[in-house]
Amino acid sequence: MSVIAIDGPAGAGKSTVAHAVAAALGWSYLDTGAMYRAVALAALDRGIPPDSGDALGALARSLSFEPRSEGIIVDGVDVSARVRHERVTAVVSQVAAHPEVRAVLAQRQRDLARRADVVIEGRDIGAAVVPDAVLKVYLTASLATRAARRRDQLGLGDATTGEALEASLAARDEADASRAASPLTRAPDAVVIDTTELDVDEVVRRVVAEAHARGATR
Ligand code: DC
Repeated sequence: MSVIAIDGPAGAGKSTVAHAVAAALGWSYLDTGAMYRAVALAALDRGIPPDSGDALGALARSLSFEPRSEGIIVDGVDVSARVRHERVTAVVSQVAAHPEVRAVLAQRQRDLARRADVVIEGRDIGAAVVPDAVLKVYLTASLATRAARRRDQLGLGDATTGEALEASLAARDEADASRAASPLTRAPDAVVIDTTELDVDEVVRRVVAEAHARGATR
């Protein structure tokens, strides 16, 4: 089974692009951020503090994850909407920084990748989880563009919200990129695409062309 890895910071367009590439190739799609969010949500629900790596690792190990194209089922319950709540976003980077959590989720992700050809979206997929992915893409965009996209996605409007979003995205990027355990990384052999000035269709066209060039077709 083949993997296309799509990594990059928050708001670079990973989800939109990964979905479209999966649809174009007839492959599955896996959102690994939703798995980290699901662990953070379960920790909040159970009162497990975001700084206790051992307890969070054990929690991650105890959960069953069934990722869907549009969301995620955890222990049989659809938590797709709840994992997007702001209180989850606020703690997820801290939860995702623990090596105990990352080891469990990386293994689950590799298990899922063995079942089907899949486009996997995350932060460390090409660099750490599936280093032999047939294609590695690193999507990036300016902070202002990423914040504006997030603002539109959330249906928010004013400039104050824009500034707050920029600050929170920058803080999350910093936390994700500076952690010791498999940080947000650009694999040396990744195709880097800056999406600041590109529309979605153009980015998808480029990724699909790279996939075809590597023989990754249906
Ligand atoms: O893509 P997202 O915003 O839903 O990801 C949520 C958090 O999970 C993000 O702050 C970083 C973390 N994450 C990670 O550490 N490794 C991944 N492969 C995917 C997400």
